[in-house]
Amino acid sequence: MRQFKLFAGVAAAALVLAACGGGTTGGTSGTDNNSTTGANGKAWEGDASEVVITTWWEAGSEKVGFDALSEVFKQKYPDIKFTKAAIAGGGGSQAKQKLAADLAAGSPPDTFQAHAGAELTDYIDADQILDVSGLYDELKLKEAFPATLVEQLTSDGKIYSVPSNIHRANVVWANPEVLKEAGIDPSKQPEDLDAWIADMEKIQAKGKTPLTLGVAWTRLHLFETILLADLGAEKYNGLFNGTTKWDSEEVTKAIKHFEKILTFTDKALYTEDWEPAMQPVVDGKAAYNVMGDWAVGAFNAQNKVDGTDYIYFPVPGTQGTFDFLADSFTLPKGAAHPGGTRAWLDVISSKEGQIAFNLAKGSIPARADLSDEERAKFPKYQQSAMESFGKDTIVSSIAHGAALPVKQSNAISDAVAKFVEGGSDATQFQAELVQATK
Ligand code: GAL
Repeated sequence: MRQFKLFAGVAAAALVLAACGGGTTGGTSGTDNNSTTGANGKAWEGDASEVVITTWWEAGSEKVGFDALSEVFKQKYPDIKFTKAAIAGGGGSQAKQKLAADLAAGSPPDTFQAHAGAELTDYIDADQILDVSGLYDELKLKEAFPATLVEQLTSDGKIYSVPSNIHRANVVWANPEVLKEAGIDPSKQPEDLDAWIADMEKIQAKGKTPLTLGVAWTRLHLFETILLADLGAEKYNGLFNGTTKWDSEEVTKAIKHFEKILTFTDKALYTEDWEPAMQPVVDGKAAYNVMGDWAVGAFNAQNKVDGTDYIYFPVPGTQGTFDFLADSFTLPKGAAHPGGTRAWLDVISSKEGQIAFNLAKGSIPARADLSDEERAKFPKYQQSAMESFGKDTIVSSIAHGAALPVKQSNAISDAVAKFVEGGSDATQFQAELVQATK
């Protein structure tokens, strides 16, 4: 199997170094609309009359983030027709299926959203996306992004996409008022899963929903953070290189914790995508939700105040670990408007594009060369995420394509969904996890 380098057990030292070193301001030329098709053998040259972008950032705060980015694009490339081919559904749950069909039929968009890391394997092996390392040279992106992130986009020395942002998955979002009503001090975070479960019991006793959970991918998202809490970063990473077995005792322990934690969820929300599933926490009807930090965009879009209306902390037991994922955009083979793709990749990788997008999206810029002034523009949550990314142990998300190829993460997701819905017991579930990762 093609191997992508995982973030494994190291802090993002490269990010810190790059941040201190200043770097470059690449990616701002904006003059290429008229380039001729494939001149100099560059796949990103050619028709720049339009760009068709496949994305799942189509609802709520995610749409707000994408709109911020599209504004930058329209200002910088006013002559390029901008076509958003969006398919709503968090985590790309719907978009990826449609995309797979379009790619298989030989009618790709000009660019599509894909997670950095193992998820790219599927597209590379199927010969569906092109090497853009030459564009990295043109736009001076190797200097702009942390070396560790570029490694996640590289296979056999070729770079297959351009990142727009970095997200953290292992975050609990909580309503402090609901905690106080249950006699829990919001300023003290539970140390581990057992202490967190004890708090959930107090909330349940008050008649409120302790934890909200939505559709299938949100359950895998929760489960991966519980795995991380019970296994620790090193053994969690071992799940992806075979040094930790899926039938090990640690995984059994995580399944038991997951089973217990599920008893605190409201099944009525299981059909909801992440944003409506999180809304009861925003509204003070539920205490906690485990979600990636795109969640902060949803609180902010509803004018909620950090620290007063909502608080956040690492999933108990995962303190000091940053469960990483990054969104990136590709150049598909056979794209009708490769010059349009180049313009899009230029905008999403530029400082201006990354600042506008990440301010709204809740993520942090993938670029490591922001000045102190540029960093200071980010709200408190993103400041804390930037700090954690610089010093924590980084691991790769399963639910969001960084750790495993789509086929395996889909199989794990199916097993998790079945368990959550009562279709398997803990023993069967673990056996299915073993099968899913074979
Ligand atoms: C992730 C994606 C995030 C966010 C989230 C919810 O897979 O990387 O940017 O969109 O899904 O839809």
